[in-house]
Amino acid sequence: MAAPAPPPVLLSADRIAARVAELATQISGDYAGVDDLLLVGVLRGAFIFLADLSRRLTVPRSVDFVALSRYEHGSTPTGEVRLIMDLRVPITGRHVLLVEDIVDSGGTLDYLTRTLRARNPASLRICTLTRKPDRAPPGLRIDYVGFDIPDQWVVGYGLDYCNQLRTLPYIGVLATTASGAEGRDTALRPSVAPTGR
Ligand code: IMP
Ligand code: MG
Repeated sequence: MAAPAPPPVLLSADRIAARVAELATQISGDYAGVDDLLLVGVLRGAFIFLADLSRRLTVPRSVDFVALSRYEHGSTPTGEVRLIMDLRVPITGRHVLLVEDIVDSGGTLDYLTRTLRARNPASLRICTLTRKPDRAPPGLRIDYVGFDIPDQWVVGYGLDYCNQLRTLPYIGVLATTASGAEGRDTALRPSVAPTGR
């Protein structure tokens, strides 16, 4: 059987690398003088972005991770999120930068920022490689955004579909989301399964 065609390119590896370098310059400037910035990667999708971004920063930094899952009702994911792997280090009084692969509905970030703010960090900012502006709530403040992208399911550079295609070196489009509320969560829009983060 022939291998499936690779997903069409939305963001090439070169474009991603150039934008990651720009973000790293901006973040390094903004955190100049901070002696140990804590980068918090959201597993699993952010692992490649975090690896590239963290190595390009010029300020002292360390890295930790959280992992999340969605509650399910039967086999249907609900909007609710829960922490399945917490940070190893306390963040009280520390400067924290949350690093995400993608902001879709904003539900994950809403949960994470509430959870982490309750621990009283010195500061908490958000950096995401991609954002779907048509989906994210207008009030959601994100400090650093790599790319605004259309409302399509994207894969590669850490992003998956059913835990596949994460290691594509570029970001490609898997499916176009049917427009309108009815179209969401249909077969056209892959649901975010707990194994798929
Ligand atoms: P949100 O909570 O709706 O913002 O969704 C965020 C999470 O859903 C991301 O961290 C991803 O794990 C996943 N996700 C949302 N859209 C996509 C996509 O287009 N491709 C891959 N994963 C996605
Ligand atoms: Mg993510």
